[in-house]
Amino acid sequence: MSTKKRPDVIGVASGKGGVGKTTIAVNLATAMAAEGRKVVLFDADMGLANAQIALGQKAPFHFGHVLTGEKTLEEVMVATPHGVKLIPGGSGISELANLDPVASGAVVQAFSQIQDDLDVLIVDAAAGISSQVITFMRAVGRRLIVVKDEPSSIADAYGMIKVLAQEGVTNDIYLLPNMMEDQAAGAMLHARINDVASRFLGLQLGYLGSIEHDELILAGLRKNKPVLAHAPGSLGARNFRDLATSLRNLPPPQGIDGGISFFLERQL
Ligand SMILES: Nc1ncnc2c1ncn2[C@@H]1O[C@H](COP(=O)(O)OP(=O)(O)OP(=O)(O)O)[C@@H](O)[C@H]1O
Ligand SMILES: [Mg+2]
Repeated sequence: MSTKKRPDVIGVASGKGGVGKTTIAVNLATAMAAEGRKVVLFDADMGLANAQIALGQKAPFHFGHVLTGEKTLEEVMVATPHGVKLIPGGSGISELANLDPVASGAVVQAFSQIQDDLDVLIVDAAAGISSQVITFMRAVGRRLIVVKDEPSSIADAYGMIKVLAQEGVTNDIYLLPNMMEDQAAGAMLHARINDVASRFLGLQLGYLGSIEHDELILAGLRKNKPVLAHAPGSLGARNFRDLATSLRNLPPPQGIDGGISFFLERQL
């Protein structure tokens, strides 16, 4: 038996689309890989292959091929130029919440096989509060809820936290303000939402700092590069390195265990 620590499984969601989930998943993954950790990014958003574009690596296969049994997880996983391994989303993700027992067994098996070669699994969830997104966010060890300082984003982030609370998930939820003017504005946004969540839902939202607005993040994306590679000295790069460090220094999540088998057993 290996004595290796279980991998940290981190979900990134937001409710509202376009507030920075993929940007955060990709750059956080890159920052964690730069710390020497073995990081896999699971693109659980179908369709646009955003994570592939942001990481500058096209993938021939996707997770749907694992679900149909055509490929193994290792065969669909691709190495990317900045040290992160990517499991491309593609079709099949939306069915993941309703798999038959045989297929579920195969998926659990697939993740268990890569578990030993993995320190962190980051899940980039789709926009919205569909049952599929909630299923993913229940199953991960830590939850990052991305929020922008605008009413519709705040309402959707709160809506997601409320649904999670109704499902009994009240632990290890972190609010992650994005595109903030500065850190002080992010801290204030967290305080505002946390105040409402604690009063009406009886839970505390963690805070690990904010991601500030930085044009270099967009400039990197245009070159298919994470900001850490495009502009390592930028404000954005620094924010992501700080977030990676804060996450690494957290105590283990409060769930039964934060590992991948938990991720899958809870999910399926
Ligand atoms: N901190 C930031 N500073 C500047 N631009 C940002 C920042 N965060 C995200 N962006 C830009 O905002 C846009 C939307 O980001 P992103 O695609 O990551 O959102 P998303 O939540 O994943 O969207 P979707 O819901 O469509 O999956 C992108 O062009 C991205 O480069
Ligand atoms: Mg996205």
